[in-house]
Amino acid sequence: MGDERQAALDAIAEEVRTCTRCRLHEGRTKAVPGEGDPDTEVVFVGEGPGFNEDREGRPFVGRAGGMLVRLLGSVGWQREDVFITNVVKCRPPDNRDPQPDEIAACAPYLRRQLEVLDPAVVVTLGRYSMGTFMPGARIGQAHGTSQPVDPETGAANALVFAMYHPAAALRSPGVERDSFEDMRHVPEVLVRARGLREGGASRAPDRATMTAAPAPAPAPVLDPAPDPASSTVTGAAEPAAEDASQLTLF
Ligand code: URA
Ligand code: SF4
Repeated sequence: MGDERQAALDAIAEEVRTCTRCRLHEGRTKAVPGEGDPDTEVVFVGEGPGFNEDREGRPFVGRAGGMLVRLLGSVGWQREDVFITNVVKCRPPDNRDPQPDEIAACAPYLRRQLEVLDPAVVVTLGRYSMGTFMPGARIGQAHGTSQPVDPETGAANALVFAMYHPAAALRSPGVERDSFEDMRHVPEVLVRARGLREGGASRAPDRATMTAAPAPAPAPVLDPAPDPASSTVTGAAEPAAEDASQLTLF
């Protein structure tokens, strides 16, 4: 699966690198398509490349990236475990906010990436990313909360979880605290998203579904409660498969 997905992601990245669909291509050094594990269950979506990202062609490699790596590390994850991308793939001049027409022009790339990745959880970083997945939400209220993702975004069966932008955490100790607190909940959102996916796409969100679900096979069941120790959780559909690429929870 990984190879096919990687090839599909590479093809999208290649289009992004030569894209001229919006004015942001004029000022870019390198476009930043995004990167990560093609088989990941969790996709982080930021705003757009900054100075360092524009030079390297890779997402979140500057100071905000350092914060993101610390946030991931706080739940035992590394950036290679997830997929990291942005709503616009080219750097806005002087790091200004991306404009609505630029986000709209770039949206098909993010949508196609999500179609390939089929994540269980989309974590939005900052207002502009949140705007795509939680239209109308306000970051001060929505950060730390999740809701089902509109399949129109490309993520067919996922929960979105909103966080502040890591750059905001660098500017404010209060936002930094909130960000670490929010991050702490991402693994449980993943467990819930897995449960909803196993329960079937048509089922309404129901917290009870996850813990109540009986194991169809002697597979490890996704119930973090009895075992607070670190454990690698595999999907119930793949009984004995030990897969090191699975995200470890708790
Ligand atoms: N900020 C973002 O939103 N994205 C990056 O890739 C880097 C900094
Ligand atoms: Fe193309 Fe997106 Fe870059 Fe605009 S920001 S030029 S739409 S890749």
